Amino acid sequence: MISRRTLLAAAASLPVAARAAQDVLRATPPVAISSSNGLGTTKKAVELMREGKDTVEAAVEGVVLVEDDPNDTSVGYGGLPNELGVVQLDASVMHGPTMRAGAVGCLESIKNPSRVAKMVMERTDHVLLVGPGALAFAKAMGFQEENLLTERARRAWLRWKTTLSDQDDWLSDEEMKADFDYIEPRHPDAMAHRPTGTISCIALNDKREVSGCTTTSGLAYKLPGRVGDSPIIGAGLYVDGEVGGCGSTGRGEAVLQSCGSRTVVENMKRGMTPAEAILDVLKRICDQTKSPRLLNRPGRPNFDVNFYALRVDGAYAGGRIYRGGRFAVNDGGESRLVDSVYLFENAR
Ligand code: GLY
Repeated sequence: MISRRTLLAAAASLPVAARAAQDVLRATPPVAISSSNGLGTTKKAVELMREGKDTVEAAVEGVVLVEDDPNDTSVGYGGLPNELGVVQLDASVMHGPTMRAGAVGCLESIKNPSRVAKMVMERTDHVLLVGPGALAFAKAMGFQEENLLTERARRAWLRWKTTLSDQDDWLSDEEMKADFDYIEPRHPDAMAHRPTGTISCIALNDKREVSGCTTTSGLAYKLPGRVGDSPIIGAGLYVDGEVGGCGSTGRGEAVLQSCGSRTVVENMKRGMTPAEAILDVLKRICDQTKSPRLLNRPGRPNFDVNFYALRVDGAYAGGRIYRGGRFAVNDGGESRLVDSVYLFENAR
């Protein structure tokens, strides 16, 4: 018997028309989906939608639970810092009914960048504020500055720094050359190990209104000023009120280069199921990854990327390049983790 996941993995190489018959996961709204760290997030989001709160408020207040949690070192308070030991946060929101969006990048000292992003959407004519400008805006909106670097995150950063890890973001002369003229990468058999955790949540209510939010402390020990996919509308988050929404976690650079979430939503608009739409974009990411330093020996990416897609009819999926991913779903009661579809069993 062939499993559903195997069928979906095989489906990635099939023409779109041949994939249309794949079975589809479906929920009755209100429903929220999220990355695997979003069990509490999805539950909260659905509770808020049942109380009649707007979908964007539901998604934001859901992820705030994780931003506030010092034990999640990839988001908000307690997030792992940049190369200099400074926590810099990125977040975005998008509201399907109005197609409005807001985002902040490289925000320091404010633990809920998702709420600030929502304020950018609601209180300004802009979409994205970064760095000191984002902080000034947050303070003007009444947010309090605080130290976001927990002792646990500081120790992790210090260990990375004092062991002079070669897992950094500076390319050696050889690695720069290798992008044009093949040489052996640093870690040809290894998956990249620096954390790129994040949380993304897409929320759909019983009026078929959909919104989303993605928030992160970004790649651990990143270069100061580095912005990933999370605050970029179309990359780490995209919502089309007529179609559905998609968010991402994982290596932000790959999602930026593929305009990932927007492409997933466009695929759904053209008739693909959420799983098909995600697998298509993951395949594009694999095909477009050419740098030897990002490839394992079989020529597959040494990183992973996750997408979470929810269509306005309640169909949903999570997907990533390699087997083993799960994502959170809530359509009432307790949240559950569901297996993600994938392209490859493993990186070898
Ligand atoms: N996907 C989160 C990041 O790369 O910053």
